[in-house]
Amino acid sequence: MSKKNVLDFIRMKKEGEKVAWVTAYDFPMGMFAEQAGMDMILVGDSLGMVLLGYKDTIPVTMEDCLSHCRAVRRGAPKTWIVGDMPFGSYQTSDEDAVKNAVRFLKEADMDCIKLEGGVRVASRIKAINEAGVLVMGHIGLTPQSAGQLGGFRATGRDVKTARSLIEDALAVQDAGAYSILVEAVAPELTEFLTRKLDIPVYSIGAGVKCDGQLLICGDMLGQFQAFTPKFVKVYANIAETCTNAFKQYISEVKNEEFPTDDHVYPRKDSLEDFQKLFDEYS
Ligand code: KIV
Repeated sequence: MSKKNVLDFIRMKKEGEKVAWVTAYDFPMGMFAEQAGMDMILVGDSLGMVLLGYKDTIPVTMEDCLSHCRAVRRGAPKTWIVGDMPFGSYQTSDEDAVKNAVRFLKEADMDCIKLEGGVRVASRIKAINEAGVLVMGHIGLTPQSAGQLGGFRATGRDVKTARSLIEDALAVQDAGAYSILVEAVAPELTEFLTRKLDIPVYSIGAGVKCDGQLLICGDMLGQFQAFTPKFVKVYANIAETCTNAFKQYISEVKNEEFPTDDHVYPRKDSLEDFQKLFDEYS
């Protein structure tokens, strides 16, 4: 399998070939995603909620993101990986945004970065792109501004917010982003943006008529327990599988059913020789 590049994603849009991608935060999940043939992976700052137990993504740091990006890269060396810029890493200035975006490539071998926002982050996207780093935009429900949006809420369901999202999407494209992720908006808006924009438009919770779909691994695998957004399809139940395995293990330990002879290293000398040894020390 050869690693995809930006031209592949542009070609896929042109040819109507869908991109399937998922988040991953660690080595094994990166490996499973690559083995399954995922087109790309996002190391999202959702790692703060799914992996670190924060109530939202705000506390996630650059160091958290870089460390998890490196682990995923080790697991998925042949997959296009998007590094997600955490809150605070690009809000302060274009210079900070460039400096931190560059770190994702230099220190974690990411292929591009993603940041949240439309019109208001256009100068950041332009600056990062001009520094030679590919940028994916992210509009709609943007978790880092969930506080301002009044929580994790769908948007673009009325003409007023849809208009402002169209302006955001155009600003992201004009600023030089190579693709855009649209989260939790009305499907008709996603379909319109997919036709209107030249760059690939990906959906998370934004309908089927676009260039590809993203889901959060913790949601689709039934690992994240706090809540499950309406747009998620749950493909596995890792939480139940783990809890049941742990329960069985506890019971088998308590009852001396584990370990059995299959799980130990048998002695190489005779029992009599071992007994002599034990007698020496008794
Ligand atoms: O951090 C993340 O996983 C994301 C998704 C919510 C799109 O940005």
